[in-house]
Amino acid sequence: TGCGSSDSDGGSADGGGDTIKVGFAQTGSESGWRSANTESMKEAFSEENGFELVFNAADNDPAAQISAVRSFISQGVDAIVIAPIVEDGWDDVLQEAADADIPVILEDRTVTASEDLYESWVGLDFKKEGVMAGEWAAAEFGSEPTKMVVLEGTTGSAPANDRAEGFDEAIAGSSIEKIDSQTGEFTRDGGKTVMEGFLQKYGVDGIDLVYAHNDDMALGAIEAIEAAGGVPGEDIKIVSIDAVKDGMQALVDGKINFIVECNPLLGDLAAELVKDVLAGEEVEKTVYVEDQSFTQEQAAEVIDSRPY
Ligand code: AHR
Repeated sequence: TGCGSSDSDGGSADGGGDTIKVGFAQTGSESGWRSANTESMKEAFSEENGFELVFNAADNDPAAQISAVRSFISQGVDAIVIAPIVEDGWDDVLQEAADADIPVILEDRTVTASEDLYESWVGLDFKKEGVMAGEWAAAEFGSEPTKMVVLEGTTGSAPANDRAEGFDEAIAGSSIEKIDSQTGEFTRDGGKTVMEGFLQKYGVDGIDLVYAHNDDMALGAIEAIEAAGGVPGEDIKIVSIDAVKDGMQALVDGKINFIVECNPLLGDLAAELVKDVLAGEEVEKTVYVEDQSFTQEQAAEVIDSRPY
């Protein structure tokens, strides 16, 4: 364990000298976004900042993530931070944390459980991200008949659910027809494999647009399109979400056409919430971080100054 002592009586730590022991249940390491988020969290919950961090990455297995939270409870950590893999299934374990008087802060993804079971959530507006991506697509294709395939994120996750909903709302009444949609698990390999299947089924000529719920899947789709002899960004246009380095580079290179940002740098805000809650201060139930979006030209201007 780290230096200093940790309060284990659930909530008396106030950051004033005592080390705050925090269990962080991360989803896994599926994407570039996730690596940047993990780094941001580890930096914010450092010993230097008065924390002892117990880190767990659950490899995107919801049952393993719940077990990790149970183990944080039995270790008697001062607070628990969770990036929930999926939205459902949290009621019991959140109740167990409440019964043990351990405050829970959610970061990144949301849950369907009652908000009485956690102190606060900090993250991005996934539905708005979907709307921004969909508005770009509807404007880009105008009244041209457009065949679209979708690479979905992890089934049951808040970003997959909300990005689908936002996008579908934004393209309602447009000329875009969703011909297929499948999960690529937010990974590059998953995006590639699913896109290979779509290309076998419809051919390069039968697909006009890919909507990828994150950049990593878009990058996998680019590999599949190129292997099938197509030109990504031209024969098949691509819109994705995240704006991580590799995605932004593909946008600058003309292989992706539009990216909506999803800011992974949530560590400082999450750490502040933990300290405030343990100090008995009132905190907001939901803390939204703003996202931007980028065309190819805008990406070229900002790519060198992006922090992740
Ligand atoms: O929850 C945020 C999503 O999870 C990111 O868009 C994706 O890249 C990540 O894996």
